[in-house]
Formats: sequence, C-alpha cells, structure tokens
Amino acid sequence: MSLKCRECKECNGIACRGEIPGLGGKDTGRSFIRNAEKMKEVKINLDVLCDDAPIFTEAEILSQKMAAPIFVAPVAGIKGNYGADISEYDYNCNVLKACEDTGIVGFTGDGIDLENLFALPAQAVNDHGGKGIVTIKPWIKEGVDARIDVLKDKKFMAVAMDVDAAGLPLLRAGKTPVENKNAEKLRYVKENLNKPFIVKGVMSVHAALVAKEAGADAIVVSNHGGRVLDDCKATIEVLPEIVKAVGDDMTVFVDGGIRSGMDVFKCLALGADGVLVGRPFALSCVKGGSEGLEKTIRLYIDQLQSTMRMTGCHSIKDIDASKVSF
Ligand SMILES: Cc1cc2nc3c(=O)[nH]c(=O)nc-3n(C[C@H](O)[C@H](O)[C@H](O)COP(=O)(O)O)c2cc1C
Repeated sequence: MSLKCRECKECNGIACRGEIPGLGGKDTGRSFIRNAEKMKEVKINLDVLCDDAPIFTEAEILSQKMAAPIFVAPVAGIKGNYGADISEYDYNCNVLKACEDTGIVGFTGDGIDLENLFALPAQAVNDHGGKGIVTIKPWIKEGVDARIDVLKDKKFMAVAMDVDAAGLPLLRAGKTPVENKNAEKLRYVKENLNKPFIVKGVMSVHAALVAKEAGADAIVVSNHGGRVLDDCKATIEVLPEIVKAVGDDMTVFVDGGIRSGMDVFKCLALGADGVLVGRPFALSCVKGGSEGLEKTIRLYIDQLQSTMRMTGCHSIKDIDASKVSF
C-alpha cells in the first residue's frame, strides 16, 4: 500500500503543502504550518511542588463521560486523501472501536457522495451503539435535509456542521452545493435533529457569537487543518479571545496541529474544554487499524497525565492559563 502521507517525524504541513487531495494545507499550506508552529510556541510551566496525589484525566463533555477530553476529528475521503485501500465504513468502524476501547469519542465526516461519505460513516456510528458524532457539511437545505433523512432511524450522540467548508470550490460546484450559513440556517439543523449541536470551523469572536445565537451547544475553533483558506491565523492564537467571548455556558473545542498530550494540555490551559486530533490519529488508523489508533490515543492520554503530574494538576479543571507561557 503506497500512502500519499509522507509520515514525517513532525506532522507540520511542510512536506505536503498544497496537496489536496492528499494531506496538505490549501495553496501555500501556511495555515496548516502556522497551526503547528504556534502550538510549539506555547511553553508549559514545570512545577512539581504540590501534594503527591492521583492524577485524573477524565472529563464529562456534552453529558458524555470520557477518559480524557480528546476526540478523533472527522476525516472524510480516506481513499482519495490517503491512498488507503479501505472503505469509508471500515475506516470509521476502526476509529469508533479504538474510541470505545480507550474511552474517548470520534467524529465522522461528510462529502459530495451522500452514500459513501455520509451514510456509511453514519451507519458505522449507529452500529457502534450511537457512540459517535456525525458531521454534516454546510449544504443548501436540500443537501442538509437528505442527511437529516439518513439520520432519522440512526443512533448518534451529537451532530456537527463544519461551516468552514462553505467556500470549497468542488463542493460549491455540485448539484447540491454548500453555502454560507447564518444563525437561522444553523438553528434549522439543531431543531430538526434534536441532539447536541456543534458548529465546527469557528475562527473569530463574531462567528462564535453567531453559533451561540443559533443555539449551538458547542463550537470547534478550527480552520479545517488549514485546508479551506491560506494564510489564516493559527487556531491556538484565536482560542483565548473566543473562549472569553462565549463565556462559561458554551463548550469550546479546538483542533489544528495538536501532536501530543502536551499539546492537548496547552489547549486546555488556554480555555478549551476538549480537543480534536486529525491527521496523526487518521494516519495511525489507516496504517494500524483500530489497534494502531488505540496505541496512539493511549500515548496522548499518558502524555497528558504525565504533563499534569509535572505541572501540579490533579484533575482537568486544575489546568489553567497559569500553567503555560509564550
Ligand atoms: C484528509 C482530511 C479530510 C478531512 N475531512 C473533514 C470532514 O469531512 N469534515 C470536517 O469537519 N473536517 C474534516 N477535516 C478536518 C479535520 O476534522 C480537522 O479539523 C483537522 O484535520 C485538524 O487539524 P490536524 O489534522 O492538524 O489535527 C479533514 C482533514 C483532513 C486532513
């Protein structure tokens, strides 16, 4: 199997810049590269002088108890992007099994091909007891309705919409194109699915407040791993101002360039309630199936736990801005 991913020691978007399909960021790839670079600039404050007590990485997010506040990000088009010889259904089953075995939660993705890229992943979530979050692209009403229809008889935990896919040329050119969403159109999704609703692809205070106005339960501070617009700010740069603007009554996730449990810790310190990991988890799954992904997830959780040990944090809520510096 010859994969399109170069499997760089550091997954930072440099070698694959511009490669879409593939794993790169859009155009020069600078948005992907900046996500990874800025994450490295956040430094963790070592301070071990505290009580020697057990460390708990557990969290409860959207009423779901998790072993750690870490999610597998939606990654669609696994054949086209990775060159992997695996169906979208099998890939997502592997993701969901690894999540089940490690106590975390996975998202599924979406694409033009309703059956292969949405219905099969949604079926995988259903077949894993509904323990997964489905993602719908910001299609015009007809496309959203088709997906709501698919979900009618399926079990799933929550639904996300990756609103930042609104400008993708390929998706705008189709018979049922994507569109920009306003608060009213977002509310339509939430009201028709009656599940926790997550708006993914928020990079500004304005967008976060529109999602809040629409009744979203959570947002993902994300630029789609740098795949939708060149020269964006990094997600970790905009996270603190967005967290401050939405207040405590909204769950905030972040993704982009999270490459270790130490990076998870940095995001939590800067105000995120949880993180999504894209390429490193997807690659582990493509190469090693559910067992490969399980190993990588456990590594992230172990690293998060040892970082907590080294910073005097005994539980997730102890992780705050005082634990990191720039
Ligand atoms: C190949 C590929 C496919 C993706 N497909 C989707 C998708 O269908 N829906 C979505 O919301 N995000 C999608 N994303 C974005 C990821 O969910 C996530 O936001 C991003 O990969 C996070 O950055 P990281 O890969 O640096 O961790 C995709 C990303 C990649 C690399």
